[in-house]
Amino acid sequence: MATTWLDAVVVARTAATANIAVLDLAPAGGGPDFPAYTAGAHIDVLIDVLLEQGGLLEQGGLTRQYSLCGPPGTGQYRLAVLNDPASRGGSRAMHTLEVGDRLRISAPRNRFPLTAARRHLLFAGGIGITPLLAMVGSLDAEGGDYTLHYCVRSRGDAAFVSELADNPRVAFHFDDEDPGQRLDVDSCLGTPSPDTAVYVCGPGGFMDHVLGRAEAAGWPPAALHKERFAAGAPAPDAAEPGAFTVRLASTGAEYQVPEDRSALDVLLENGIDAPSSCQQGICGECVVRILAGEPDHRDDVLSPGEQADGLFAPCTSRALSRVLELDM
Ligand code: FES
Repeated sequence: MATTWLDAVVVARTAATANIAVLDLAPAGGGPDFPAYTAGAHIDVLIDVLLEQGGLLEQGGLTRQYSLCGPPGTGQYRLAVLNDPASRGGSRAMHTLEVGDRLRISAPRNRFPLTAARRHLLFAGGIGITPLLAMVGSLDAEGGDYTLHYCVRSRGDAAFVSELADNPRVAFHFDDEDPGQRLDVDSCLGTPSPDTAVYVCGPGGFMDHVLGRAEAAGWPPAALHKERFAAGAPAPDAAEPGAFTVRLASTGAEYQVPEDRSALDVLLENGIDAPSSCQQGICGECVVRILAGEPDHRDDVLSPGEQADGLFAPCTSRALSRVLELDM
């Protein structure tokens, strides 16, 4: 499905920390409210538009994903953007935005929704607080049962402390404070329980640690929900990428995917109207169903159940069989 783009204007900008800007976006030109969303949703931002309007020059457009962290239902969107020194340009460009600047954004998508579990265990690492903050708002509004563990290097690096400080369901864990308050993942996770869902968002190392401890404790994959900001490291046993062929079920056309290109790259180069966004296996926009062949899943967005059900992310995943037939 093609991305629906919206024209937005920055209506407020505040500093959550020295390195985190909070941007409130409203429809440009006083248009109708933005589409509604649920907690955990994100939007794409077209950074090439930002770069032009910020007076900076950069060849080629960037699309970056940002979680919506404000309370749903306001008709506006709130983002919190970390000015990451390791950024490839996206967060730096976002930090040039001021009130009145315009930008193009996608409609919200949610690959990280709250589930119907009776109890929710939320783990945020650093800027990973953003989707979980929206979840806290939703759960508070509906009287949900949850605990948020918010892990940050230091208090000065933590966004939204004042919003969360008085919430008895929130536990802060600062790396540079009393060792007794640091995150003890095993005890925070406790024993797996069928009525509890675990949600994790943050840097890759933090996520791998929490998810690894959860798996070791016996939490089933279906209870673990994650959202990454950048693709995780390939699994240690991942095979070297090899060449394979994708076949489109609708036309029978076949395309060779060399070992140094993704299936998505090849489809786009051949003029196939394939949806895409992050190109890192984290947003779910490119996901398509496989009709034949054996996939080699390398994405960070599909659950084991969705993978087993035949879904496939052509931007990062590859094939173990010679041919993959795609439902497109
Ligand atoms: S484009 Fe984002 S998962 Fe493939």
